[in-house]
Amino acid sequence: MEKPATIMDKIVALAKRRGFVFQGSEIYGGLAGTWDLGPLGVALSNNIKREWWKMFVDGREDMYGLDAAILMNEKVWEASGHTGAGFSDPLVECEKCKRRFRADHLSDKTKCPDCGGVLGAERQFNLMFETQVGAQGNIKSYLRPETAQGIFVNFKNVVDSMSPKLPFGIAQIGKAFRNEIAPRDFLFRTREFEQMEIEYFIKEEDWERLFEVWREDIWKWIDHLGLKRENIKEFDVPADDLAHYSKRTIDFEYNYPGKGFDELLGFAYRTDHDLKSHMSASGEKLEYIESDGTRFVPHVLEPSFGIGRAFTAVLSEAYIEDEMGGETRTYLKLPPHLAPYRAAVSPLLKNKPELVAKAREVFAILKKEFGNIAWDDNGNIGKRYRRQDEIGTPYCITIDFDTLGETAELNDTVTVRDRDTGEQKRMAINELVAYLRN
Ligand code: GAP
Repeated sequence: MEKPATIMDKIVALAKRRGFVFQGSEIYGGLAGTWDLGPLGVALSNNIKREWWKMFVDGREDMYGLDAAILMNEKVWEASGHTGAGFSDPLVECEKCKRRFRADHLSDKTKCPDCGGVLGAERQFNLMFETQVGAQGNIKSYLRPETAQGIFVNFKNVVDSMSPKLPFGIAQIGKAFRNEIAPRDFLFRTREFEQMEIEYFIKEEDWERLFEVWREDIWKWIDHLGLKRENIKEFDVPADDLAHYSKRTIDFEYNYPGKGFDELLGFAYRTDHDLKSHMSASGEKLEYIESDGTRFVPHVLEPSFGIGRAFTAVLSEAYIEDEMGGETRTYLKLPPHLAPYRAAVSPLLKNKPELVAKAREVFAILKKEFGNIAWDDNGNIGKRYRRQDEIGTPYCITIDFDTLGETAELNDTVTVRDRDTGEQKRMAINELVAYLRN
């Protein structure tokens, strides 16, 4: 018997059908652990990144942006500890089918979960992608496994050029790469992904107080993504499980459908580990100098957000199946600031030039104002509503004969349909911009 589709299966299918996420290199059979964002996926992902930047960089006085190169000198990764055992996962290989597994994800570490063969001895597998730089290919480098190190190696540049006052943070959004042994669960664990990271530089004695301040800020971000608090759990990582650089880490976990609570983002107290390591490896003084001349190496709090996981959580939270007008419908209840389109504009009938011309006028006004406005004249109006519901467009605006003045008092008004309730109200065209903005 065919297994019924889980909610996650349905979300993945919708994401493909409606142009959010495609399998990477699909026409060649794919490449494990890679996904491509389609037109609506780019829009959603850009909205998440823009809102993050607004909240954590532009919305504050103590933050500085950065966009460091992905390729870095190999010494960076030696100093940070990533080439060593600290950045590897335990791997076991089946002696029969040769498949490889993450040992810590197996309940029975002796038997292959696929073919039942005997599993070989456990060994450490480093997750970094190695590459060669230059025409001779003789300069070893890596695709960065986290954006954070770009921030640490630019600490001095930012201090020298911007003269920030401690505490202050450096924020960066960018790609990271990890050769995960077992990529899985849609965008949850991929080999190429994006991070939004902050290194917040502090005095050591302030770490516990500022840790609590940042913890609250992270909750505000979770609210802003529209994730219900009951779907989030904090997990204080036990001391023996902490990353090699961390003295305390809280993973914020999301209740992914069909999977349960698992990491959404991480928040770590990294002490002065990174700056000190880079200081001793590079010979550069990575210090902060107070106005009275006191020098010290700052400590660091690091909120680290993965975009793929935020994207998956936002889609999961927004995915709703309900009944409307006696039919089941699927819709995405996305917050308007994250939805790919803020509104869709349609002429009631696409074969009436006067309706189309008026609808084009309204579309032009809104497009100029918001940018992310959809033009939709495909199929009948019911089908358009269903399609826009499925991609999370909060409002559908329809231009009908009353807009053209068929009923005198309704001249230059349109219908605005609400995605969540299906209710429609009539509104003057000149009220639309303010309505959509609010
Ligand atoms: N700089 C700290 C750091 O990279 P991490 O916990 O390894 O810490 C931070 O990663 C976040 O990056 C995770 O919470 C997750 O959101 C995201 N992330 C990590 N590995 C990932 C992967 N293979 N696929 C998708 N997202 C990943």
